[in-house]
Amino acid sequence: MAQFWKPGTERPPLLDDEEGGILLYSASSASSGYGFVSIEKQRQRLPVFKYRTSILYLVETHATTIIVGETGSGKTTQIPQYLKEAGWADGGRVIACTQPRRLAVQAVASRVAEEMGVKLGEEVGYTIRFEDLTDRDLTRIKFLTDGVLLREMMDDPLLTKYSVIMVDEAHERSISTDILLGLLKKIQRRRPELRLVIASATIEAKSMAAFFHTSKKHRGLEGGDGVPKTEPAILSVEGRGFNVQIFYVEEPVPDYIQAAVSTVMSIHDQEPMGDILVFLTGQDDIEAAVRLLTEEAQNNGKPSSGLVVLPLYSGLSRAEQDLIFSPTPRGKRKVVISTNIAETSLTLEGVVYVVDSGFSKQRFYNPISDIENLVVAPISKASARQRAGRAGRVRPGKCYRLYSEEHFVKEMSAEGIPEIQRSNLVSCVIQLKALGIDNILGFDWPASPSPEAMIRALEVLYSLGVLDDDAKLTSPTGFQVAEIPLDPMISKMILASNQLGCSEEIITIAAILSIQSIWFSVRGQQKELDEAKLRFAAAEGDHVTFLNVYKGFLQSGKSSKWCHKNFVNYHAMRKVIEIREQLRRIAQRIGIVVKSCESDMQVVRKAVTAGFFANACNLEAFSHSGMYKTVRSSQEVYIHPSSVLFRVNPKWVIYHSLVSTDRQYMRNVISIDPSWLIEAAPHFYQHQRLNSIPH
Ligand code: CDP
Ligand code: MG
Repeated sequence: MAQFWKPGTERPPLLDDEEGGILLYSASSASSGYGFVSIEKQRQRLPVFKYRTSILYLVETHATTIIVGETGSGKTTQIPQYLKEAGWADGGRVIACTQPRRLAVQAVASRVAEEMGVKLGEEVGYTIRFEDLTDRDLTRIKFLTDGVLLREMMDDPLLTKYSVIMVDEAHERSISTDILLGLLKKIQRRRPELRLVIASATIEAKSMAAFFHTSKKHRGLEGGDGVPKTEPAILSVEGRGFNVQIFYVEEPVPDYIQAAVSTVMSIHDQEPMGDILVFLTGQDDIEAAVRLLTEEAQNNGKPSSGLVVLPLYSGLSRAEQDLIFSPTPRGKRKVVISTNIAETSLTLEGVVYVVDSGFSKQRFYNPISDIENLVVAPISKASARQRAGRAGRVRPGKCYRLYSEEHFVKEMSAEGIPEIQRSNLVSCVIQLKALGIDNILGFDWPASPSPEAMIRALEVLYSLGVLDDDAKLTSPTGFQVAEIPLDPMISKMILASNQLGCSEEIITIAAILSIQSIWFSVRGQQKELDEAKLRFAAAEGDHVTFLNVYKGFLQSGKSSKWCHKNFVNYHAMRKVIEIREQLRRIAQRIGIVVKSCESDMQVVRKAVTAGFFANACNLEAFSHSGMYKTVRSSQEVYIHPSSVLFRVNPKWVIYHSLVSTDRQYMRNVISIDPSWLIEAAPHFYQHQRLNSIPH
């Protein structure tokens, strides 16, 4: 195995970059004995601590402060506390800190509550979609996703309860972060006293500063009487990471999961103690790797060979998250197999070895075909450097890249593309419209979305009846759809279910579609899972199958045993019940009568069609391979093997989402009658396409 690797022939790029030295700088106080140090001492050892006074001074005197600092330097957990200690949360005001990822919001909030010695949900709280752990009167520091903060603007457009808003992980350029930055800039003009802190691990701080420099207007006032300077301040926190040695594979690896597993095993055999962090792409390949590693460790004749293997991806339960952050037991080696969430959002102490697959799951949208899907795609050089940096936290580390040096140099782009430039913009447009931003193309974006994507989004929203001829939100449909914190197509489906009398069923479906999967999948037990699914399978498709599972779960008295027996994920079902309850409340608030259609599944399918008509597909007449074409743009798509309609291949279907591997696969599919399409969206399909649909 060892000959598989060769050390990079040049000095690793991490060390001779312009950010140079950051990873080489080693603070004498760094120690792996942190487990026995008091929380106060730990806080003082973090690199940001040295900058505490400067940060507070800059925030006091500048409307916007940009803070760039290596991951793990304490930006997220410390800065909100400094701000609170300095009085920014006095007088009932609140300090907000946004994150692009839900899991990071939860993890960071619970860490900060622990550091402050308070109960999570009181002085320190968090809000993510469908989960609010804050107290209206008590919460002073609030962690939330950037998406949730956008939603809060619908009720309070100037975000008046916040004194400081820290937009964290800005380098990730998530779609919500970008929208938020544009809106916060507008809010600043109306609320000069509001302070923004933009924090990131790597950022072209200058372009961000240029974006926020709204000079002229307030120049006369600047600096005096508590009015902050509009010119943004930039502060760089010097990290204290250790040297990380980088290894590349000589030849491209055919299977990165297998390669990751054998690399972990050879590190475990040959290298001194220290935890291993593996970057893969998503829940599926992470679980596959966890299983392979567990098996491998047993095959070695060392059943408890000292490896503690843990997955890390969004959607983990609280208990599973806690395991990730708990210290590695003495004499053991922890292996965490993660999505890119561990790249910058979360810091795991004790990691000495990083294995980088070179891939992550990314959203890509093609406005021509109007298709968006999640694709496993190569990461950027910036991400690769971040991943490597995770190995140098407690002592000099090693990073094993499962790609060649040539690939790194020649194939990987320098930076990722902002998500807004590779996403379907339907949700984004409706949110801006709901906030009264009418000229969306003229909006002040940190990075402009493509006009084609914008036009596609307007088209879909128009067909959904959400926008009128003047591209304004319709009343009531448009406002109602905007009110529901879900994809507009799902929201429209819920509204349609009101007229069709099946809102009970549709709300259940909406709740299930908003979580990753309700099935409990164990590699190697695919057959058993498929058999279990058959017990619930409905000829109409996956959506109706979900209703059967939900019914079964309720009838079992919400039993975990029942779930286990039927390969249903108990944790996911609890979540479904919770989300469903919230959706029910929202539905009632916007005037939907929650009613069941009992066993009339035709109305359920019609409601799905009312929301998702744009995703209609037709089976190719003479295709034995189950090939479908999207009605919209004649793209070739197939039913995913996980669907109950796989191999059934009804003539007309609607899908919920696409995943792309070797082909474009439709996930969560329901069969429809094509005449419903015309009923649902008479304007949507162009004439020649309409002709192909039998009336
Ligand atoms: O935001 P940044 O990457 O600069 O650092 P941070 O997230 O504030 O992390 C600072 C320190 O807190 C690190 O040493 C983390 O390991 C620790 N931390 C933790 O132990 N548990 C968490 N849930 C979050 C952070
Ligand atoms: Mg952070």
